[in-house]
Amino acid sequence: MRLLIRNIKELVQTEDVPVNRVCGKDMARISTVRDAFLLVENGFILDFGAMQDITGSKNWPEKEPEKVIDASGKYVFPSFCDPHTHLVFAGSREQEFVDKIRGLSYSEIAKRGGGILNSARWLHETSEDELFNQSMNRINEIIGFGTGAVEIKSGYGLNTLDELKMLRVIRRIKENTLLEVKSTFLGAHAFPEEFRNDHEKYIEQIINEMIPMIASEELADYIDVFCDTGFFTVDETEKILMAGMKFGLLPKLHANQLDYSGGIQVGVKYNALSVDHLECTGEEDIKCMLGSDTMPTLLPGSSFFLRMHYPPAREMIDAGLPVALASDFNPGSSPSGNMKLISSLGCIKLRMIPEEVINAATINSACAMGLSDTHGSIARGKVANLFITKEMPSYSYFFYAFGSNLIDKVILKGIIYPPSPL
Ligand code: NIG
Ligand code: FE
Repeated sequence: MRLLIRNIKELVQTEDVPVNRVCGKDMARISTVRDAFLLVENGFILDFGAMQDITGSKNWPEKEPEKVIDASGKYVFPSFCDPHTHLVFAGSREQEFVDKIRGLSYSEIAKRGGGILNSARWLHETSEDELFNQSMNRINEIIGFGTGAVEIKSGYGLNTLDELKMLRVIRRIKENTLLEVKSTFLGAHAFPEEFRNDHEKYIEQIINEMIPMIASEELADYIDVFCDTGFFTVDETEKILMAGMKFGLLPKLHANQLDYSGGIQVGVKYNALSVDHLECTGEEDIKCMLGSDTMPTLLPGSSFFLRMHYPPAREMIDAGLPVALASDFNPGSSPSGNMKLISSLGCIKLRMIPEEVINAATINSACAMGLSDTHGSIARGKVANLFITKEMPSYSYFFYAFGSNLIDKVILKGIIYPPSPL
């Protein structure tokens, strides 16, 4: 099956020689092709280039491709990669939203037994089928927003059976969507009520019961810990990461959201794929990440929603670090999986220029979920996950018009979404 997109006003984020990630000053540059074509075969990108070279392409088919789309006046972007979400959850928490408007802080809500524990109660009472249906609605929503790969965490179970329930739902999502899905075990998201005064015992349960069962059913790719003041300490985090790594789970961490917690250092020490949040990041933390393979992943949706300060993206990039963006889609601190909006927040609140947010929300965010080889750019041989915009004056307009829906068509694995008879 071949699909040709022709007369593209500008094809964005192209790569002739694919890279794993983009750092520092290089983040301010992207490659594009104006007046371009893109040829897709069996779900993969076969070729791209300027319209004037189209028939000279060595991959040019003898007969017309089965499907041709004219993209005059429109832009084509690689799909967003969203490397940090909690989109499997039950119900919603708008009561806490109102409590926060009235003045309570995120930490105060958590201390009262609200927050993550509130979602854990809802999840316990919700059947696996119902949880799957609610989560699939969110999956279909983010596909419409231009996301082509997503990482989803457990962490609202907080006991063995409910953590397994969440991870099985994530597996079912993998089997039922065109989105690329990676799954992360986050049993160490909060201490359940009954272990409030016996942290050791809950950690034992994570290490001796949850991790081995999850590994034996191959339910997770990665392991995460909420390493922060009031949640898991650095020592507890190390113990849990080491246990997960023994079973082949690579670490990704929640670090330095609420405090200068030492989470960044643990992440780097264990070669985590990413350290995420980083609202509280100082010079020492930046130095520690330089020279490591760990991707600093910023979640401006949660700073926005919680009215908390933003991570120092500019300082990180100016120091030479790569930066990735993610939505953190969850019911408590970022109830949106809209990566276009997150990218606009990257521009507006993190002072990243459009080229930097494009790199942060595509190739670097693919890297933060171990997918740069196959996703995150328009490159020959990569999966054909992309979107076509409505007519626009420039690619920067996409982020500038932060409240407009500018996506015209989504293509996942070479298939126009929702799948239509071709
Ligand atoms: O990434 N920080 C920890 N976990 C989530 C929030 C989860 C919740 O409040 O339900 C986050 O912001
Ligand atoms: Fe999170």
